[in-house]
Amino acid sequence: MAIDAAQQTKFLLDESQLPRRWYNIRADMPTAPQPVLHPGTGQPVGPDDLAPLFPMALIQQEVSEEPEIAIPDEVLGILSLWRPTPLFRAHRLEAAIGTRSRIFYKYEGVSPPGSHKPNTAVAQAFYNKQEGRTRLATETGAGQWGSALSFACRLMGLECKVYMVRISYEQKPSRRSMIHAWGAEIVPSPSEDTQCGRAVLAEHPDSPGSLGIAISEAVEDAAGREDTAYSLGSVLNHVLLHQTVIGQEALAQMELAGAAPDVVIGCVGGGSNFAGLAFPFLREKIAGRDIDVLACEPAACPTLTRGVFAYDFGDTSKLTPLVAMHTLGHDFVPAPIHAGGLRYHGVAPLISQLVRDGLVRAEAYLQNDVFASAVTFAGSEGILPAPEAAHAIHGAIQTARAADDAGEKRTILFNLSGHGHFDMTAYDRYLAGTLEDIDLDEGEIERALRAIEGLPTPA
Ligand SMILES: Cc1ncc(COP(=O)(O)O)c(C=O)c1O
Repeated sequence: MAIDAAQQTKFLLDESQLPRRWYNIRADMPTAPQPVLHPGTGQPVGPDDLAPLFPMALIQQEVSEEPEIAIPDEVLGILSLWRPTPLFRAHRLEAAIGTRSRIFYKYEGVSPPGSHKPNTAVAQAFYNKQEGRTRLATETGAGQWGSALSFACRLMGLECKVYMVRISYEQKPSRRSMIHAWGAEIVPSPSEDTQCGRAVLAEHPDSPGSLGIAISEAVEDAAGREDTAYSLGSVLNHVLLHQTVIGQEALAQMELAGAAPDVVIGCVGGGSNFAGLAFPFLREKIAGRDIDVLACEPAACPTLTRGVFAYDFGDTSKLTPLVAMHTLGHDFVPAPIHAGGLRYHGVAPLISQLVRDGLVRAEAYLQNDVFASAVTFAGSEGILPAPEAAHAIHGAIQTARAADDAGEKRTILFNLSGHGHFDMTAYDRYLAGTLEDIDLDEGEIERALRAIEGLPTPA
């Protein structure tokens, strides 16, 4: 007997419906993003400047203005191990919070490493292999990206070295084991293996590390070896591009559900899972559809809500080119909150520009509130979310409550970017009432932003 779409819980696509093309929002953005600048000359960087770090196919995707880019068959073959991912109607969450709104979520935790990250890891490993690189170096915050790239490199037959932010390395030993099982090498960052790492350790022997520091180490590693390229799990245009399979599938699944979202929500670290879900919906918003697009970030690292839009380095040691983005300053070290993947000083330039143009808005949340929503979600929908993804859950619950207060009924869609099976220490601390709320003081933001004084100003 067929189930009425309004009663249905899961909306599934057939493997043959896996998107064959990535969607490139650069083709539709009302304001073009600012050029990436060479820090020495202040001039736009060209493909040759980036060639030591990335394969040419990814550099071309970085600057492409084509609306759609074909996904290679070898990449589709690996993505089909877990894609298309399911879209759920959160009937039980709706009942638990007593809302009149409908809540849907796209679940990316079904991938082998447990998050959205392999959507780009597989593509990056593929292009690097195609152009003859045999080894990739990268950073990881929470460990999700490091696991995703280790997995992708293993399946593509490449070596992989992971610099893992030290606080997460200590909090999440099982992520380390997973990375080892997929055959990669992993060290805590700051490490003794690079000049940048040794310089940080000399000044701060107890540094908890940060994504900015770990990026510096991975870039230094890749720049120093012919066989090695650098691979970044977020922020860059091509990474966001690879994630758009999420939103394209979700568009088809919302159609199956006979519903169209008024609100689309994702958590933002560097911005890749948010972009993955939101960009295909923003394509419709730019074409005239009314959709509220909400980015959720931690109050301890409030890049979009309290940072500035400016040119800044992507890493702490100033090895990367300058990009125009929302930033808290490249030497800002976020407090060691448990959403390790959201501890980054910047946000993707494409998202920053969309925020600037009023197409995306942002909110920041305290971690105890986020964990309260995570536990409500786990107690109704069953899935234990990653602390990063729980920011999107909190955003969805807040949105539903605000609609109820206003006497409105909305259709809310959020991205559940990963499961939290390796984040149980964080849950233990929350449940024991020992999780600290860190609301950043203005003085620290002012201090950190002094680091970008004197850098070029965006147009
Ligand atoms: C589950 C999960 N969600 C979200 C993020 C944040 O990254 P991004 O903003 O690039 O999606 C991470 C990063 O590690 C993650 O592991």
